[in-house]
Amino acid sequence: MNTKVFRNLSYGVYVVSSMDGERPTGCTANSIMQITSSPATIAVSINHDNYTNGCIQKTGKLAINILSEASAPGIIGTFGFQSGKDTNKFEEIAYSLEGGLPILKDSCGYIICQVIDTMETDTHTVFLGKVLDGDVIESAAPAMSYAYYHNVIKGKSPKNAPTYLPEETEPGKKWVCSVCGHVYDGELPFEDLGDDYKCPVCHQPKTAFVIEN
Ligand SMILES: Cc1cc2nc3c(=O)[nH]c(=O)nc-3n(C[C@H](O)[C@H](O)[C@H](O)COP(=O)(O)O)c2cc1C
Repeated sequence: MNTKVFRNLSYGVYVVSSMDGERPTGCTANSIMQITSSPATIAVSINHDNYTNGCIQKTGKLAINILSEASAPGIIGTFGFQSGKDTNKFEEIAYSLEGGLPILKDSCGYIICQVIDTMETDTHTVFLGKVLDGDVIESAAPAMSYAYYHNVIKGKSPKNAPTYLPEETEPGKKWVCSVCGHVYDGELPFEDLGDDYKCPVCHQPKTAFVIEN
């Protein structure tokens, strides 16, 4: 089996948001697709270990925030490499409440869904959501694709992502963020970067980078 074939499937990059009681929370997700047009339904795959999974189960509602190519890459790190169980992910994120769900300002649109069915896999719950509302932010940049996230932002996906593939080891020394796996590929040698350098994906400090061969 050549698992690289999975890289030829196309996705977007989203923040799936929900409520944890009075507190907004959510996680980065790419495994989302529209299933039907009328009534509009959408499928969202969320790992059993993600805190967001339980919040969606409890509330029966979720929002899909569609990230654009201009959305701050740190959003993907904030929502994709830490858990809402331990962190208030929305603490430094601009958002509004629409239909009782947190909607990120830095996106190109959102869709609000009522969960009408679920399917369990060994690792993930597939939520089937009936679309209740949605809107486009006209002035925003085009929607970010998963390929753009990998090829332009040079971002990685954690093991909880349904599309996770183990990295192949490349020859030679490279500086890698120990939190999100981002590989530094800037023009300046890593050692010459200022101490205020932060991982562009998950915003961890320079000290979070380690050398991998
Ligand atoms: C680019 C990217 C895509 C991801 N896609 C998914 C996904 O589709 N489904 C999923 O369950 N987790 C996905 N993840 C992983 C979750 O975002 C991550 O495990 C998160 O820390 C869970 O947060 P929570 O515990 O607050 O729910 C993705 C992460 C990244 C960075």
